Amino acid sequence: MKRHAAILLGSALAALACPATDAAAADKVDPVADAKAFQNFFFQKFPDVKHEDFVNGPYSMDEGLKRQWQEKEEFPPYEFALEAGKDMFSTPFKNGKTYADCFPNGGIGIRQNYPYFDEKEGKVVTLELALNRCREANGEAPYSYVKDEMASLTAYMAYTSRGKPMDIKIPDDPRALAAFENGKRYFYSRRGQMNFSCASCHVQSPGERIRAETLAPALGILNAMPIYRSEWSGMGTTSRRFVTCNSQTRAVPFEPQSDEYRDVEYFLSYVANGLPISGPGARP
Ligand code: HEC
Repeated sequence: MKRHAAILLGSALAALACPATDAAAADKVDPVADAKAFQNFFFQKFPDVKHEDFVNGPYSMDEGLKRQWQEKEEFPPYEFALEAGKDMFSTPFKNGKTYADCFPNGGIGIRQNYPYFDEKEGKVVTLELALNRCREANGEAPYSYVKDEMASLTAYMAYTSRGKPMDIKIPDDPRALAAFENGKRYFYSRRGQMNFSCASCHVQSPGERIRAETLAPALGILNAMPIYRSEWSGMGTTSRRFVTCNSQTRAVPFEPQSDEYRDVEYFLSYVANGLPISGPGARP
């Protein structure tokens, strides 16, 4: 079933019929109920997709694509980044410390706990942000959020968590609830010349095609990050993907790791709780 971007405008109007959107209208913030409604929406919309397959982005939506992907996984194009990330991760900083010193469990098998809400700072901390803070705390310059080094590091960390269920916590802190709510609002708000929200594409139209690409479902959409994309001929971080998606709708993107992006990452990760980490991913 190949349809065009124009259909998105129509289906975007139907957004109000979506239970996950209805929840947005309610005053009370109830992340548990939100996550349940969000997951059920996708499970009902795509009854043939195994729950744990939603984390494979466009591949969960199409059998033909899925076969291509399984072939690709035999010689994965992210292999190079994975190797580089592993080396970087174990190479000491100039002061002799390593990334392992900054993270619980030496940074291994912890991807599923990011982003987390930091009660000291009162804000969401993503894995990319935590990595750069680790560098800065050890006297190293931060990496670009949209380039290869960051993608390699997060690729390696994701790999050590493959198969572990996403496990995002919302502590009993009104600021954490507010961050979740803000992320949710951001996700459903329309912006840009095309007046699209993230949900217009990734909730209303997953499986449909926009130009040459099959839209990934919003459920589990971050579990595969970072991703290799042929169009980028390289890896992309979560930050890079957010900026690209904003630009596609001719909306002005935020700076990587702005509060909005941190909060939307918190929201999208929380509603994917229970679904396995599948990163790093590869896309056509
Ligand atoms: C005009 C439609 C459109 C809108 C609006 C949009 N995206 Fe996307 N998004 C895409 C396309 C096309 C891709 C690449 C194909 C795919 O994987 O879905 C993509 C991919 C992604 C991916 C990677 C998924 C994967 O598994 O490859 C993430 C994460 C993502 N978008 C998040 C967002 C967020 C967050 C927003 C709101 C700020 C957003 N998108 C808004 C079209 C859109």
